[in-house]
Amino acid sequence: MVDQTVVLIRHATDADLLALEWDGEYTHYRRMYSHAMRDSKRGNRVLLVAEVEGEIIGQIFIYFRPSWSRHFPNEQAGYLHSFRVKSQFRKQGIGTSLVHRAESILLKRAYHRSIISVAKDNHDAVRLYQSLGYSIFTEDPGRWSYVDDHGRIQQVEEPVHLMQKRLIVK
Ligand SMILES: CC(C)(COP(=O)(O)OP(=O)(O)OC[C@H]1O[C@@H](n2cnc3c(N)ncnc32)[C@H](O)[C@@H]1OP(=O)(O)O)[C@@H](O)C(=O)NCCC(=O)NCCS
Repeated sequence: MVDQTVVLIRHATDADLLALEWDGEYTHYRRMYSHAMRDSKRGNRVLLVAEVEGEIIGQIFIYFRPSWSRHFPNEQAGYLHSFRVKSQFRKQGIGTSLVHRAESILLKRAYHRSIISVAKDNHDAVRLYQSLGYSIFTEDPGRWSYVDDHGRIQQVEEPVHLMQKRLIVK
């Protein structure tokens, strides 16, 4: 078990981009991560990482202009995505801490709705989000594409639940 006091949650910087590839597991997302970093410099996104003794062990990104916000016409809704914790550090509350930090950033920007999409077969994640107060509000075929590190367009199709939570200042 990792000592929670040594887990640092902070904003990612350019120097973290390689570490976000997790020793090759996510190299195919290199361009997407660079784009997300550029977006963060324009204020459209926040990239949070969890770090333990200099190693990036988790991440969550916040997007402030999601198309899903059309479901909540009278309020600002942010989208949490690219959420993951390295397997050996799971089930120790780090994911929960990342979501809580992301929610507090949304609230500071006067965003009172948080949205997450989760693959329908990702039962562990659905359960975690439910325990954090999220509920399913719609479904989506989950069709999207990205350009991989070789410049090839990759199509993804992964049916998802869209989950939401009303954020309240405590
Ligand atoms: C989803 C994910 C980010 C969660 O991260 P995590 O750090 O394991 O999350 P937490 O530790 O906060 O919570 C996970 C579970 O551990 C439990 N837990 C939290 N702290 C704990 C502790 N100290 N001791 C034992 N269990 C604990 C939580 O209650 C939760 O229980 P549940 O499985 O019954 O819901 C992680 O599983 C992951 O990276 N999965 C692969 C990628 C993925 O699916 N991402 C989500 C895409 S939508």
